Amino acid sequence: MGILRLLDQLESMSRKHFIPSISRIDGAALASLAFQAPKGTILDLGAGIGYSTLWLAIGAQPHHKIIAVEYDQNLYTELEHYAEEITKATGIEIIPVKAEAIEYLKTLPEKTIALAFIDIEKHQYPQALQELLPRLAPGATLAFHNAYTPRPPQKFFQLLDQHKVTYKIIPSESGLLIAKP
Ligand SMILES: C[S@@+](CC[C@H](N)C(=O)[O-])C[C@H]1O[C@@H](n2cnc3c(N)ncnc32)[C@H](O)[C@@H]1O
Repeated sequence: MGILRLLDQLESMSRKHFIPSISRIDGAALASLAFQAPKGTILDLGAGIGYSTLWLAIGAQPHHKIIAVEYDQNLYTELEHYAEEITKATGIEIIPVKAEAIEYLKTLPEKTIALAFIDIEKHQYPQALQELLPRLAPGATLAFHNAYTPRPPQKFFQLLDQHKVTYKIIPSESGLLIAKP
């Protein structure tokens, strides 16, 4: 299946599963970040059935692999299927992982993440940031969905300042926060 058809299919299937997916503007930004990401692992934390994963794969380079993490069993079953479709359409290796994102992050080695997209429960953003920072490869970028709504706790923004992380918010409907330590 071609990329455009797969995009349409993942959008309609995500709606069917009541997943509040990212917008196409967010997706295009993620593809661009993936294209420019240094060598290393790309993470999609809170992948649903793989819509954000597809956008990351559209921009990723052959030296990247994408790990898509989802904790809901029903969604994960679909994610496994779409991971294969995304690889066929883009040539990028996709590894689906059924896990709670923070617990999964704790298992990763330091300085290996080239890009992480975070779309898990918003109250988990402060903890996700703290687990991600030591694991970032030189030149890595972080992207957090929902900088505007539903807004993450104030502690998340305080932590960004405390760790001297530079960030911008792309004014898509929900707000996409992109950050570099
Ligand atoms: C807002 S949806 C977005 C899905 C996907 N990023 C997209 O744009 O289509 C968030 C997804 O993250 C999953 N999720 C939320 N918290 C999680 C966590 N702590 N660990 C793993 N998955 C999580 C939910 O089950 C849901 O599928």
